[in-house]
Amino acid sequence: MEILVATEKPFAAVAVEGIKKVAEEAGHTLKLLEKYTSKEQLLEAVATADALIVRSDKVDAEVLAAAPALKIVVRAGAGYDNVDLAAATERGVVVENTPGQNSNAVAELVFGMALMAARNMYDGTSGSELKDKSIGIHAFGQVGRNVARIARGFGMDVSAFDYKGRTEMIEEAGVKPVADVASLYAGNKIVSLHIPTTPATRGSVGYDLVTLMPKGGILVNTARKEVIDEEGLAKAMRERPDIKYVADVKPDSAAAMEEEFKGRVFFTPKKMGAQTSEANINAGIAAARQIVSFFADGDTRFQVNK
Ligand code: 3PG
Repeated sequence: MEILVATEKPFAAVAVEGIKKVAEEAGHTLKLLEKYTSKEQLLEAVATADALIVRSDKVDAEVLAAAPALKIVVRAGAGYDNVDLAAATERGVVVENTPGQNSNAVAELVFGMALMAARNMYDGTSGSELKDKSIGIHAFGQVGRNVARIARGFGMDVSAFDYKGRTEMIEEAGVKPVADVASLYAGNKIVSLHIPTTPATRGSVGYDLVTLMPKGGILVNTARKEVIDEEGLAKAMRERPDIKYVADVKPDSAAAMEEEFKGRVFFTPKKMGAQTSEANINAGIAAARQIVSFFADGDTRFQVNK
């Protein structure tokens, strides 16, 4: 079978080598399309693919239609909002993700960003420490749980709200469960977003929640830009000059925000949360192994379009 790795933002070379080894040892061939700059290149590359490994690369109905032999798409990562699940299901294509494989990398970046904001973007003025500050984790999935573990190391007061109601899991992790999302924002100096983009979460964090944050609040977004109501956030930041917003997922209005809220916002130029060799190896090799066992045994344990 032909396995295509199509990554606009490439994996580390060592991860690609690992993926190749897993694929070839199982008798498959590996094709690589890295750093592509146009959709046409992707459409051309998928023409003969039986399996596809992607990251945040858009796999829409057109891409699926250009891949008549395609049987499985594995998103090497957590969020699969870049894949048109309905179109894949219609074509009988299995879609999987690799949950948990890159979550520590993302969680570590949360603190890189929180520290940067707490130290006033390293502008030379006195900032504040994370120790004894409160952090609220918005959704207690794999990244949220890693954030909780690291936050304890900083000596922070950790609480979480989970939209899936995983209260027991929150308690087992030694974290305080919060009953509703408003209380999470009202009670925490730092809030870290870990909700996926769904119709329910799209634009769900804006003026109402952000203005609840205590003085000096820092909102950290390593999840998705789509969960933010950008106008609402800007309005909140206008009214509350003490609030900072740091994101690994650049908002559409990044340039305007950087101009208006100078020194209070920071956006990575490219999404960097999962961009470590370790996360690339974990997620990339997990994706390759899932494809191998799908072809060998029909294993669809990680299927997300059931
Ligand atoms: C994910 O959903 O796994 C993360 O957002 C990482 O995405 P990336 O693979 O595009 O860096």
